[in-house]
Amino acid sequence: MANAVIIGTGSHLPNKVLSNFDLEKMVNTTDEWIKTRTGISERRLVANGTSTSDLVIPAAKAALESAGISALSLDLILLATVTPDVVFPATACLIQHKLGAKNAVAFDLNAACSGFLYALKTAEQYIKADTYKNVLVIGAETMSRLIDWRDRGTCVLFGDGAGAVVLQSGKNNGRGIIDTQLYVDGSFYELLSVPAGGSRLPTSHQTIDDNLHYIRMKGNEVFKIAVRNLAQSAREALKNNKLSVDDIDLFVPHQANIRIIQAMANALSFPMEKVYTNIEKYGNTSAASIPVALDEAVRKGRLKKGDLVLLSAFGGGLTWATSLVRW
Ligand code: UT7
Repeated sequence: MANAVIIGTGSHLPNKVLSNFDLEKMVNTTDEWIKTRTGISERRLVANGTSTSDLVIPAAKAALESAGISALSLDLILLATVTPDVVFPATACLIQHKLGAKNAVAFDLNAACSGFLYALKTAEQYIKADTYKNVLVIGAETMSRLIDWRDRGTCVLFGDGAGAVVLQSGKNNGRGIIDTQLYVDGSFYELLSVPAGGSRLPTSHQTIDDNLHYIRMKGNEVFKIAVRNLAQSAREALKNNKLSVDDIDLFVPHQANIRIIQAMANALSFPMEKVYTNIEKYGNTSAASIPVALDEAVRKGRLKKGDLVLLSAFGGGLTWATSLVRW
């Protein structure tokens, strides 16, 4: 059976920086609170008129360039996002057009902050079944569009960005995605959501007056469930593949809160020196956070061929996922 190998990465962040000090002027918060409780110093925001697909194109082009393949070689484009350009058609279709990837089919996938790992697993299945050979897997978000800038509980956390990887069907040389496990507990559906704008509560004057088009999160509850489940799923993934924590060269977690990342590393007895974090600069970019971090890690020389990488993500649904990749 073919392996799904990551052969290229790319990312793109908008230029506009919103610092904790800027937020101090907008809501009742402090740089110190945000830094100590989340690890975030600043985040990037799109300009007016910029959509998620606009962020994706440079990230996708960089991934294709580093993979050394043209857009015409793509068979499938998968976009993980909760901030599509429009309700429909899928933003992935517009990306197919903008890239000139005429031979690719394309669709969006929503698993909130876990979306990139859900998309990675989906792409892997198509490759292993020999349906597609070259797949562009993207995580991209314009979270700033879903933020209530008066809500200090959420507005300090999120940012915008896009990351992409090219997955290719490879010979069985040990490289590629070893195992990805996906999880859902829908009983926690209400803990993190945007309540209106869908079929349950279509947009109306009332939903706008009630502020129902913004992110609502019970952060504290999400935090506890995240720490418990992420560590457990990483342990399971290692055990199922007869690997130990010592075998991991780099851990690239979803960048939601530095305390979640530290708690997980602590629970696994994993040294923080081998954890890649960039939350300080970008905040939580939801489905974009892992592919952006992967691309940075590669470009900084922190990830080399043959390294064992642990990826883990957590988000609305509630969804969570763990992946082991031989780079
Ligand atoms: O990626 C998707 C998944 N999402 C997550 O993983 C997010 C998980 N949750 C978190 O990261 C954390 O729960 C938060 C960062 C959202 C909040 O941190 P916390 O340590 O859980 O704080 P808390 O919600 O328990 O609030 C503690 C206090 C409260 O004040 P009182 O009630 O103790 O007086 C909050 O009102 O901190 C207050 N607070 C703030 N203070 C200053 C909440 N937000 C802020 C703020 N600035 N921005």
